[in-house]
Amino acid sequence: MSEIHAELHERQALLPPALAPTRHFDFAAMSGDDRYRLMASTIMPRPIAWVVTCSRDGAINAAPYSFFNMFGSDRPVIALGVLARPGAPKDTAANIQATGEFVVNLVPFALTEAMNITCIDAPPDIDELTLAGLTTLPSLAIQPPRIAASPVAFECRQTHLLDTGPGQLLVVGEVLHAHYAEHILTGDPDRPRVDHNALDLVGRMHGASAYIRTNDIFDLIRPVWQDNHPRAPKTHHEE
Ligand SMILES: Cc1cc2nc3c(=O)[nH]c(=O)nc-3n(C[C@H](O)[C@H](O)[C@H](O)COP(=O)(O)O)c2cc1C
Repeated sequence: MSEIHAELHERQALLPPALAPTRHFDFAAMSGDDRYRLMASTIMPRPIAWVVTCSRDGAINAAPYSFFNMFGSDRPVIALGVLARPGAPKDTAANIQATGEFVVNLVPFALTEAMNITCIDAPPDIDELTLAGLTTLPSLAIQPPRIAASPVAFECRQTHLLDTGPGQLLVVGEVLHAHYAEHILTGDPDRPRVDHNALDLVGRMHGASAYIRTNDIFDLIRPVWQDNHPRAPKTHHEE
């Protein structure tokens, strides 16, 4: 048994069969702020999409969004959750609604402070990337540029816009092109792998300001039914 399996078995054995007592929360009876606090402090860590969009007249906008993930690879789709803002929609939402285009840049530890600067609630005509001292590179298929210092950027076109609450939006987008910095790629150039240490991404945690670095990694090999049941029909394992 591997060291990690031994530790996991030890920890699981210490757990009571049910984690009583528990507290129940009726979300329908709570305020949005309270729901946010409980959900965002437990549904974590979350990857961060550093989203660059353009307004219809070409003004560049950037802001971080941690309600973000991939939801498929065929087609390659990602989604972003944009919360309501009292008065007017967030610039990212308004721009995607107007143009259907956005770039998702990923955030390594070295760019965390710059990313944080771009979450400022600046007026729509302010380019947050300039505020953060960042430069951009043109995209191949869409108007919004990518952040030059970010090691991974996905050029996306919106495929679905779901109204999930008053002023709250779920944006689904297809990745058209991806840009990976050479220094994070290893192995066979025809089938490259990502060097996670070189990538050094951060994730969003609880509260207003907590983040996590992605360097506390352990491996857990997936069980395969056929290993113990050799006559079983072959199954196909992916995510
Ligand atoms: C790390 C981080 C993650 C964030 N994630 C989200 C999110 O998922 N959804 C959201 O609506 N706002 C999120 N915010 C807040 C927005 O970035 C902030 O409201 C910003 O001003 C929006 O900018 P915009 O109007 O240019 O789109 C996040 C902020 C930070 C710092």
